[in-house]
Amino acid sequence: MAAPPFAPLPASQRLTITGLGGLADGIARLPTGEVVLVAGGVPGDEATVRFSSRSKGILRADLETLHQPSAERAQPACSAFGQCGGCDLQHVTLEAQRRHKLSWLQRALGRDAPVARLAGDVQPQGHRRRARLHLRRVGRGMGLGLLQARSDQLAFVKNCLALDPQLEALRRQVPPLLAQAIDTGELMAVVGRQGVIAALSGRPTRELDLQLAQQLTAERLAKDWGLAGLTVHIGRFEDAWGLSEVDLPEVDGPLAVGVDARGFCQASAEANRQIRLVLAEQLASLGPFDRVQEWYAGSGNLTGLLLQTAPRIRAIESDLGACDRLQRSLDAAGASQQVEVVCSPVEQALSLPRGRELWLLDPGRIGARDLAEQAGAAPPAAMLYVSCALDTLGRDLAVLRQAGMRVADAVLIDAFPWTVHSEAVVTLVHDANPRIAESVQG
Ligand SMILES: C[S@@+](CC[C@H](N)C(=O)[O-])C[C@H]1O[C@@H](n2cnc3c(N)ncnc32)[C@H](O)[C@@H]1O
Repeated sequence: MAAPPFAPLPASQRLTITGLGGLADGIARLPTGEVVLVAGGVPGDEATVRFSSRSKGILRADLETLHQPSAERAQPACSAFGQCGGCDLQHVTLEAQRRHKLSWLQRALGRDAPVARLAGDVQPQGHRRRARLHLRRVGRGMGLGLLQARSDQLAFVKNCLALDPQLEALRRQVPPLLAQAIDTGELMAVVGRQGVIAALSGRPTRELDLQLAQQLTAERLAKDWGLAGLTVHIGRFEDAWGLSEVDLPEVDGPLAVGVDARGFCQASAEANRQIRLVLAEQLASLGPFDRVQEWYAGSGNLTGLLLQTAPRIRAIESDLGACDRLQRSLDAAGASQQVEVVCSPVEQALSLPRGRELWLLDPGRIGARDLAEQAGAAPPAAMLYVSCALDTLGRDLAVLRQAGMRVADAVLIDAFPWTVHSEAVVTLVHDANPRIAESVQG
C-alpha cells in the first residue's frame, strides 16, 4: 500500500533519476509516487540525494553521492558552472540536451501531433551575439558580466565560452573611469555587421562630480571599449556617440534588418539563420495566401521572408524603434506598399482573417494567449508559430487545437545550447482548408 503523501522522509535516499525538468533539475519518483526535483541530477544517474524541502507535493533534493553517473553526463566546459546563472545544462551532453528539448516540444504539441524534428546544430562556443551584462563593484574596480543564479551578485567567470568573442573582450576590459562614476549598472550590447554597439545605464556614485562626469563621454567610453556606437545614461547624464543601430549579418535580403542595443534580436546568428530557413521551407510548402498577418514583427527579421507569400502583409509590433527600423527597410526595398506596419500592442490590433490568410507569430516568453483565443473564434487558414517558451507554446496550442487547427509540422532550433531554452517553429493548418492541409502533408 502506498505511504500517505506527507509521510516523514529520511534525510537522504538512494534513487534513480529518470527525467530532466524544464528548470534543469533531474526528476525522480519515490515509491509513494511523489516527485523529487534533484539539483544537478541527470537522467540515468544512480544517486543518493539529500532532501531539502517539500512544497505542494514536490520534493527538492541535492545530490549527496553519485553511485553510477548517467551516460548523458558531461564535464561542464566552464569553471563557473553551477555558480553562474548563464548556462544551466553544461553537465549534460549536447546530444542529450537536444533530445530532452525535443521531447519537451513533443509534449507541448499535444496528442496526435507529428514527430518533432531538430533543425541542425548550433555550436555553443561563442554563440551569444547579444547580451545584457551587469556592472558591479568588485573591490576598488568594476566588474562586468553575468549574475550568479538567483542572486544580484556577479558570477566570477574567468572566460565566458558562450559569449561572442567580441562581447567577451568587452566584458573583460571595463574602463577604470566607470568605477568612480557608478555603483551598479548594465550594458546591453549586440554584435552586428558594422561592429558592436551598446547601451550603458547606471546609478551614479555620490562622488560623481562635474569634472568626472565631463570625462564620461560616450565617445571616450566607446573608444576605450572599441565600440561602433554607445549610448550612456547615468543618473541625469545622457550622451550618445557613433552608430545607434547595426544590421544582422545573417540576413541577406530582401529587407535589411537593423537592431539597436536595447531592442530584440535572436541571441545567436546561426539559430536565426536556421529559424529563417525552416520558415522559408514551410512558406514554400504552404503556398500563396491572400494576406499575411505577422504578429510580433520586431524590426522585420521575418517580414522579408513573407514578400513572395501574399500581396498584402500586415506587420504588428509594439516597439516604436523597431517599427521605425522596419518602415525604413521597407521604404529602402520599395516594399512599403505591400506591407502595412501597425505600431501597436497585438492585443489592440486584433483583426479577423480575410480570405486565405496566414498568421506568422513570434511572441516573447509570455506567448500569445489573446491571439490564440482570437484564432479560436475565427481561425486563419494556416499559422506559423515561432516560440521561445515551450510552456506557453503548449498552452496556446491547446486553445488552437480546440479551434480546429492541427499541428502539421514542428521543428526545434537549439538556439540556446548549454541552457534549457530553445526556439521552435510549429506549423498549424485548419482542416477546413483541405488544399493547405494536403500540401503540408505532401
Ligand atoms: C521574440 S521577438 C520577435 C521579433 C521578430 N519577429 C524577430 O524575429 O526579430 C518579440 C517581439 O514582440 C514585441 N512585442 C512584445 N509584446 C508585444 C505586444 N504585446 N504587442 C506587440 N508586440 C509585442 C517585442 O517588442 C519584440 O520585438
